Amino acid sequence: MTQAIDDLDRWIRGEFTDLNTKLEEIYFAEKALVLRGSAEVDELTAVLVRDGGSLISKVSERKVLPENADARYELLGMVGFYLAACRRHEVEPDQAQFASLALALAAPLGVAPRFASSHQNIHNRSVGGSLTTFTTLDSERVFLLYNGLSVMAYRRAAHALLSVPALGVSSPLATYHLTDAVAALRDVLRFSQALAGELDRDRFFYNIRPYFKSHRVGSREFRGVNAGDFAAINAIDVLLGLCSPHDPFYQGVITEKYPYVAPKDQKLLRSLATTESLLDMVVRELEAGPPSAPLRENAELLLDACRGHAAATVFHHNQLVAPFLREPAGYAPPEHQADMTTSGPPLEAVIETLARLRDLRAAHERPGVATARPTLDRVRALLQSAS
Ligand code: HEM
Repeated sequence: MTQAIDDLDRWIRGEFTDLNTKLEEIYFAEKALVLRGSAEVDELTAVLVRDGGSLISKVSERKVLPENADARYELLGMVGFYLAACRRHEVEPDQAQFASLALALAAPLGVAPRFASSHQNIHNRSVGGSLTTFTTLDSERVFLLYNGLSVMAYRRAAHALLSVPALGVSSPLATYHLTDAVAALRDVLRFSQALAGELDRDRFFYNIRPYFKSHRVGSREFRGVNAGDFAAINAIDVLLGLCSPHDPFYQGVITEKYPYVAPKDQKLLRSLATTESLLDMVVRELEAGPPSAPLRENAELLLDACRGHAAATVFHHNQLVAPFLREPAGYAPPEHQADMTTSGPPLEAVIETLARLRDLRAAHERPGVATARPTLDRVRALLQSAS
């Protein structure tokens, strides 16, 4: 890192988090989403905007970017944290100071010129045991820890499932990977349960979630971040056969998230268009004749993995989205209602999209939507008839 980038990194990990934390404590004491017009708030916000802006200008003025793509992505995260904090405190920083740098970093990487949730989990380089955060609040630590662990567990499940096609669904070696996928999906649920149990609802709503909002960079508005902006979840959907890359609704979900996932995740997202599901492979082999012992075991494991994926998605909907967003949004003042989602559409529209995804992932019966329910029933029937 150059001196200017080092200085920015040190500031983000130090004074930046202190300033945000002080502001959050003031807002929380007043039970306000944001406050303007208080001398203390205005002073703290002005220091944040001024010091961050000056450090970013120093990086920008050098007009030399790190050669290494990961280092550029990390620098984009630092600039993005500053911009997200300005948005959160509802102050407009000087676009001339940062927009050209954010765009120069983002364009060659093919990502949006803002911080993404992968800057909080997959690419969050720890220094002295501490992650990069917006605040030092315990609720942010809890959120980042369990959200990060859920993402790691999803990535582990995806890696296991992606290893199966090369072996074939009747391979005794594939049993190892499918067992691992089932265990990893169980971990997703376990981490989500820990998150729901330990995260303070008001703290999340008032002090953590507001950093994830959409904001402008240069002349364009970029949507906010959400914990689902990583490719593994979609690889699992498609490999389990619960979502189809040929379904226009699901294609829309994948296409929309490209600029918001980490650069290396985009390759995996792109590959899904031509990925055959393990469920279809299992049906084909079961229909071909009496199943071998490994095929039978692997088919049972695949059904277990589908159940695990369903349980985690239903939990997300009922125990995270509902209590941590939908309910508190109901008592937020009318002027903040338009600001409740990270993706832009009104909250109810976002929840409806999520409900459709949940029903696909859980293979629920849903009028007008083709879910994997008949295929899962077919696998069960084929296994039963062969026993
Ligand atoms: C307090 C905790 C959480 C809340 C309130 C929450 C809420 C939401 C909301 C509102 C969305 C829709 C985003 C939008 O379009 O605006 C979303 C998407 C998503 N969230 Fe969460 N979430 C939470 C935690 C998590 C965790 C821990 C995970 C696990 C990795 C997760 C995974 C996802 C996924 C996968 C999606 C996107 C759906 C997709 O594109 O596949 N969320 N979440």
